[in-house]
Amino acid sequence: MALLVGSARAVPVVKRADIDLVVLQFALTLEHLENVFYKQALKKIPEYKFLQAGYTKEYYNNIKYIAHDEEEHVKLLTGGITAAGGKPVAACKYDFPFTDVKSFISLSSILEGVGTSAYLGGAPLITSKDYLTIAGSILVTEALHTSMQRAALHRVPSANPYGTPLSPSPVYTLAAAFIKSCPSSNMALPFTAFPALKGPSGSICPGKPAGFSVAGSLPSKFFVTFINGLEIVSVSPKSVKGKTFWATPPATFGGQTYALVTSTNMTGGPIADSGILYGPAILEITPNPPKYDVNLQK
Ligand SMILES: *[C@@H]1O[C@H](CO)[C@@H](O)[C@H](O)[C@H]1NC(C)=O
Repeated sequence: MALLVGSARAVPVVKRADIDLVVLQFALTLEHLENVFYKQALKKIPEYKFLQAGYTKEYYNNIKYIAHDEEEHVKLLTGGITAAGGKPVAACKYDFPFTDVKSFISLSSILEGVGTSAYLGGAPLITSKDYLTIAGSILVTEALHTSMQRAALHRVPSANPYGTPLSPSPVYTLAAAFIKSCPSSNMALPFTAFPALKGPSGSICPGKPAGFSVAGSLPSKFFVTFINGLEIVSVSPKSVKGKTFWATPPATFGGQTYALVTSTNMTGGPIADSGILYGPAILEITPNPPKYDVNLQK
């Protein structure tokens, strides 16, 4: 598939004026996914299940507000794309692997985190300042959802001083994992879905090695590129055994973190699609205790 992001060579593929429309269609693709996810959850899990699981009526009510937000995002983007002369993509068929309250909240936290990263990673591509304001406005809402769900999981809501941008193809890869099929009339997005990278399932501690695996083969030399906040750090894997390996994210990383298997050292960025072999995997790193100086008040 054509490249769009993270490299100058992408620009000739999609004409400058068309990039905004592609970004809007991509945003709508993600909003459809989130909207259907919450609608399915509200249909499948009645309020009493949340109460039984120890959550309050107030918490359940806030889930309804989130569903409302995602529906509004779908409507706004649909209207915007139509006004810009495009044909808005329709919702796809999805497979969301949640079975109960806990797995719903975990998945919600991840999806909202990815949504936040998607708007942040897509922001530099947007040429229209008006669209940029709308994208920023939606980003804030996705980030508020993220911190609410992180708190519900007893994770630090603001685990990093900075949000984590993720470029469209890695985001597309993560979204594609939940998509079974889309209407053939939907515009094809110029992004790549990379082969899956499986990371650790639970939270990991900062600076400790994490185990990964892939379904395909690994080259003799590769890097594991971690993305968290505004930092991109590529490391060499610790030990490789067939399709599994260990790698250690930087000790300063905390919260939702993305890991890619890359063919080059991408430390400091940018993340070039052409160098991605697998991933991203999503890791949850328990942040280190907060450090601050109470005397720094100037
Ligand atoms: C990747 O590049 C950075 C900066 O250029 C360097 O400090 C680091 O050692 C490199 N990492 C590896 C695993 O080679």
